[in-house]
Amino acid sequence: MAAVPDLSPLPPVPLVDLQKQLAVVGDAIQQRMAAVLQGGDFILGGAVGELEGRLADYAGVAQAITVANGTDALQIALMAMDVGAGDAVFVPPFTFAATAGAVVLTGATPVFVDIDDTTFTMDPLQLENKVAAVRAAGALTPRAVIPVDLFGRPADYPAIHAVAQAAGLQVLADAAQSFGAVQGDGQEARPVGSLAPMTTVSFYPSKPLGCFGDGGAILTDDPTLAERCRRLRGHGFDATGEARQVGMNSRLDSLQAAVLLAKLDVFDQELAARSQAAAWYDERLRDSLRTPESPPDGRSAWAVYSIRTRERERLRQALREAGIASAIYYAKPLHLHEAYAAFGDGAGSLPVSETASAEVLALPMHGYLDEPTVTRVCDTLLGALAKP
Ligand SMILES: Cc1ncc(COP(=O)(O)O)c(C=O)c1O
Repeated sequence: MAAVPDLSPLPPVPLVDLQKQLAVVGDAIQQRMAAVLQGGDFILGGAVGELEGRLADYAGVAQAITVANGTDALQIALMAMDVGAGDAVFVPPFTFAATAGAVVLTGATPVFVDIDDTTFTMDPLQLENKVAAVRAAGALTPRAVIPVDLFGRPADYPAIHAVAQAAGLQVLADAAQSFGAVQGDGQEARPVGSLAPMTTVSFYPSKPLGCFGDGGAILTDDPTLAERCRRLRGHGFDATGEARQVGMNSRLDSLQAAVLLAKLDVFDQELAARSQAAAWYDERLRDSLRTPESPPDGRSAWAVYSIRTRERERLRQALREAGIASAIYYAKPLHLHEAYAAFGDGAGSLPVSETASAEVLALPMHGYLDEPTVTRVCDTLLGALAKP
């Protein structure tokens, strides 16, 4: 009998494949979760303490304070820094809403600073210009800057620190997408968490280190700021039970900590796999499309692999037809959203971010992406580009 050709369609390719990860770490997660269920300490329990120690060690800092999510981490860090009404906090507009939202929730004012065209992170020269403009206007006090490590690539911290120091700004790193990344090589290599006096992280499920719900952390070497953050995550109570200031309810569940502890055991492997997948994409696409630049030193956490193209809709459609997921981060920079328009100067005022929003297209990226799948994604893109 003649062989029947296999006409079944190829399997769909998700943006992030958490099922493949589960096949590797599922047993370890279940064992750790079972221990939490038996222990019964569901909120800020032993697993949370263990996780805070592991996170601090990983990031090379003295303290990790876990919280309920990456947005609260930003707000609590700003509150601990005493940022509030009358303060200007400089943020990029090409980021997730949380970066600027947390600033507004403290009563401070976000001031948008455009990004660099090749790195997608805050342009230090534009920061300098915006600080001068705020000073000249005189209504706000320049207080802090939040560089965002967009798509997993650390911002240009050496240059940002130089501007911040000259301007008297505190630096808070939004590392929601970049935990695991490193800046610098050899003796100079420093992990995310130690690149700024305060760093915030998100453990949203699709992040490089993600839990099974919401989670976040603040990383710092400063014992006073750490103590304030610990108080602020639990209604402002100190160790004696005195409410020292008005705080939040923003605690991490022990079950989420159990998930993260198990995932930390394979995290380095996954980061290496993400870098390998990025290299495969680069090799196949760089002659035909604008691929993201790898950092000149250290490593990105490759939370997102985003190409740039003026033919985004056509390419997206081809991917869709081939069963391949893609996404747009971010379709609009924050200053063009209704909620943040009052803090910006409208369309055309932040042109690098606006152009990036019109061109970016995120391709599948995770720690279990194999070479044939990357080839399939690239062949689909190149095939679509070749069509008239
Ligand atoms: C840059 C950035 N900042 C902050 C956050 C907020 O984190 P979470 O969703 O855990 O609140 C995110 C999450 O997507 C993010 O990408």
